[in-house]
Amino acid sequence: MLNCSSRVSADDNPLKTRIYLDHAATTRLHPKALDAMWPHLEDEFGNPSGMYGLGKEAARAIERARSSVADALGCRAQEVVFTGPGTESINAAIKGVAFAEQFAGLGNHVVTSRIEHHAVLHSCDYLAKFGFETTFVPVDRFGMVDPDVVAEAITDRTVLVSVMLANNEVGTVEPLADITEAVQRRAKSFRRRIALHTDAVQSANSLELDVKRLGVDLLSLSAHKFGGPKGAGVLYIRRGTPFLEQLSGGGQERQRRAGTEDVAGIVGTAAALCEAQANHEHYSKACRQLSRHLAEGVLHSVPAAKLSGHPEQRLPNNVHFSFEGAQSDAMLEALDELGIAASAGSACTSATWEPSHVLTAMGMPLSRAAGVLRLTCGPENTAEEIDQVLSILPRVVSESRAKARSGLSAK
Ligand SMILES: Cc1ncc(COP(=O)(O)O)c(C=O)c1O
Repeated sequence: MLNCSSRVSADDNPLKTRIYLDHAATTRLHPKALDAMWPHLEDEFGNPSGMYGLGKEAARAIERARSSVADALGCRAQEVVFTGPGTESINAAIKGVAFAEQFAGLGNHVVTSRIEHHAVLHSCDYLAKFGFETTFVPVDRFGMVDPDVVAEAITDRTVLVSVMLANNEVGTVEPLADITEAVQRRAKSFRRRIALHTDAVQSANSLELDVKRLGVDLLSLSAHKFGGPKGAGVLYIRRGTPFLEQLSGGGQERQRRAGTEDVAGIVGTAAALCEAQANHEHYSKACRQLSRHLAEGVLHSVPAAKLSGHPEQRLPNNVHFSFEGAQSDAMLEALDELGIAASAGSACTSATWEPSHVLTAMGMPLSRAAGVLRLTCGPENTAEEIDQVLSILPRVVSESRAKARSGLSAK
């Protein structure tokens, strides 16, 4: 029985086990992905470009994987490109379209949102070195992008719009189909089509990724977020989309991504994606129950706790709280000592603390943005685990608040 009145301490881990609540960061490899990968890590080691049996079999395994991914996304096999992780897929999408359009003299303007992952934001910064301008559209307090605001940002020089399908920090799911419709309506007024990319890295477990329904031209995925291997990803490129490859070399992936293919990674990605898309409803239902239980419990037991992100349009496994007066680092350390893996949602990249750009864009005050926790469930989590977290969290937050107060008064 957990003694909630005792101080949180590493020597007295009452859980004895680990509770993993950071599925937005990465997931366990799905057994079917591992099964699919094994042969290519052992006997089936041929180079897919080889002109002999071993190589041809590897090439066939890649093409089978490509067809499975195409079925899962509702597109043609030729529209699927296997890449390195999500970051590479996103870089390829943004730079690939932007440079192709610039080369054709069609423009130098990109539109994206202020809450994108750094893979998108820094790709846009990179383009600035080559004469591109980017408009970063704002979001509301729930992290929601307004389709009309995206459309209004488009000019006759716009070549690409990139808006994420679901936010990795606060879990808000964006109205992508409405955004694509508004963008193409506006593009028509300039008598052209504008390529639309979506970062769907957080979405494959819980949302249907039908590229036609979403209306997107490019879509990025990262395998390790949905039970696939780390370091592997997918880029969907609709046929006819202008695209300049960002990795030049041996011409693999139909000239769109050169380099000897990661055969095991590719077959693992395909197996995991098929599982994720086939089970997304079941996954969503199971995770939603756990997250609701967690959210209700925390809002009830922790004074001045607030749930961030959209109340309904959110990823079913994401719960993101802000606790005025607490500090994320202190809470994460205390949870880790107790065997609970959680996150603040964004990594601190500099010695001086800066609030997450997502929370800032949502207008969250600094005093709240400094004390946030992101808890992301997976299907292997149990209601008992959530109860254990609920029995610990109020004390973790109050200790962090007390520590922050004493630090302030010592100054
Ligand atoms: C929304 C989003 N986009 C892109 C990425 C980058 O993916 P990776 O780190 O697998 O390259 C992440 C990773 O957390 C993400 O959450």
